Amino acid sequence: MKGCILAGGLGTRLFPLTKITNKHLLPVYDRPMIYYPIECLVNAGIDDIMIVTGGRKSGDFLSLLGNGKDFGLKHLNYTYQEGEGGIAAALALCEHWAQGSPIAVVLGDNIIEKNIKRQVANFREQKKGGKILLKQVPDPERFGVATLQGDKVVRIVEKPKNPESNMAVIGIYMYDSRVWEIIKTLKPSGRGELEITDVNNWYIQDGSLTAEVLDGWWTDAGTFKSLHQAACLVAQGGANRLD
Ligand code: G1P
Repeated sequence: MKGCILAGGLGTRLFPLTKITNKHLLPVYDRPMIYYPIECLVNAGIDDIMIVTGGRKSGDFLSLLGNGKDFGLKHLNYTYQEGEGGIAAALALCEHWAQGSPIAVVLGDNIIEKNIKRQVANFREQKKGGKILLKQVPDPERFGVATLQGDKVVRIVEKPKNPESNMAVIGIYMYDSRVWEIIKTLKPSGRGELEITDVNNWYIQDGSLTAEVLDGWWTDAGTFKSLHQAACLVAQGGANRLD
């Protein structure tokens, strides 16, 4: 399985911190934000990784990460997203590189306490379809929100005003190679982006989306509040350092 990290965008919710640099290069306690999703994939045994950059200072990713030696990697792949087309549009840039392999996708501003080894192993067994990870949150209206019947997700709504549950869909996704054709059918949402939630809803309709609840804490780091919270959580309790 290959891994993609989506680290583009203009990070407008963090202005002026992101006025001259890319959000994913900002510090989260003792490491740049981009370190955490790389460690997440490497900890799960995924060492063939593509980083989708974009926006400001994208060349700095190369200076910072090089070929990934700090993570025990021999090589890293990079690509560049022009403009802000959304998460699914950023992911589409990985198609030529994935070459039919299943992929794990991690949003560059998502940080987890533990690891996704079990979920990746389960997805390898699953063979077909997609997998999403869920976490109970106090503020579901900020996220994609899953409605569950038993352990099955029956729909996901992106940033609902009246959430049907408090289960957020976190920014770690696994897909089979059909994902590329699915992305090509998407239409821009109200915020003008190709939404990853639409990809996940396609897999729900297909009956091939599985969901697991993540162990340990999870946070994004794309707003002032969540960036601060992320730094506090890392300071208090580690976060997936290489093990
Ligand atoms: C994105 C996704 C959303 C998901 C969240 C996780 O939101 O669209 O479904 O719950 O990441 O961090 P965004 O950060 O683009 O607002």
